[in-house]
Amino acid sequence: MTLSRLAHALETGTLDLSENACVVLIEPNPDADLGVLPTRNVTVQHSFKPSYDLFDAMGVAVTTQATQPVDVVHVTLPRSRELARGLIAQAESLAAGGRVIVDGAKTDGIDAILKFARARVTIDGQVSKAHGKVFWFDAGTAFAEYALSDPAPVTDGWITQPGVFSADGPDLGSVALVAGLPKLLKGRGADLGGGWGFLTKHLLGVPGVTHIDLIEADHRALTCAALNVSDDRVALHWADATVWGDAGGLDWVVMNPPFHTSRTPDASLGQQFIRSAARLLRPKGTLVMVANRHLPYETTLAECFGQVQELNGDPRFKIVQADQPKTSNKPGRALRR
Ligand SMILES: C[S@@+](CC[C@H](N)C(=O)[O-])C[C@H]1O[C@@H](n2cnc3c(N)ncnc32)[C@H](O)[C@@H]1O
Repeated sequence: MTLSRLAHALETGTLDLSENACVVLIEPNPDADLGVLPTRNVTVQHSFKPSYDLFDAMGVAVTTQATQPVDVVHVTLPRSRELARGLIAQAESLAAGGRVIVDGAKTDGIDAILKFARARVTIDGQVSKAHGKVFWFDAGTAFAEYALSDPAPVTDGWITQPGVFSADGPDLGSVALVAGLPKLLKGRGADLGGGWGFLTKHLLGVPGVTHIDLIEADHRALTCAALNVSDDRVALHWADATVWGDAGGLDWVVMNPPFHTSRTPDASLGQQFIRSAARLLRPKGTLVMVANRHLPYETTLAECFGQVQELNGDPRFKIVQADQPKTSNKPGRALRR
């Protein structure tokens, strides 16, 4: 997962990469060791803000959309099949006449994409390592017809794009949250991990709500949100919700926090979101969130809030209202309004 497959292919001499090659890495894992590349002429393309910031802090050139032609493009396989094909199509057009390298875990579908590629191009080489594969081929136009589609309407007119969370339509947990949303919310608030805007759109219908900050780390999802939610009361932020914003400035936070890192369930992400919500809220502020019942958020909620109650959920989802954020979550001085 750390470019170790690529390193192995380079070390064993199976794959050859020039010292002067101009390389784009599309969506590498945050722990990717760029030192394995023989060239320093490297640009990272990333749509996920925490990863974008990480590579930026390392002094690597980073962009959300590479456009300049290069010699080699390395694609780290994402979970979504359509997004994977779309990124490979983009890689082919960026590296026209050069080389495309595709690298991924078995659990992310590397075998299926290799089979798919083999039916369309000559595979110049492949290496299996660390429960995955890396393979490469000369860039042509084999994937052109699979280019990532622009954001487009799916269920009930919601606009999404392959690869974003719940790309086929509203998430059932978020639907449950909207149904159980208390009417008490008023003033300024935030939708943390707002995705393509489902919750924000509904929050605009709550009478007392005056302003919503939608915080989303996935650039593609935020682009869809901009199309789903167009309202002067909404500000869209491409940001990491675990560190975004000033302490103590919000009246409410609503969220359906992420619970996966890639394919791996990761409850610590949701726990970080809860801490962030407590930090962002004013002393009389309220958090309302939804989560799958099995996710272990109770301890973190009790650590961060003086009062926690479950609202009407359903057998699959719990909807939680948390009040009285504890000041220990506010490292800096709370903002006065
Ligand atoms: C469970 S989904 C909910 C999406 C949306 N609120 C909805 O109801 O459909 C969680 C969202 O959090 C986003 N996300 C993951 N990590 C994030 C982070 N560190 N900061 C901001 N958003 C993040 C994901 O991209 C995803 O869109």
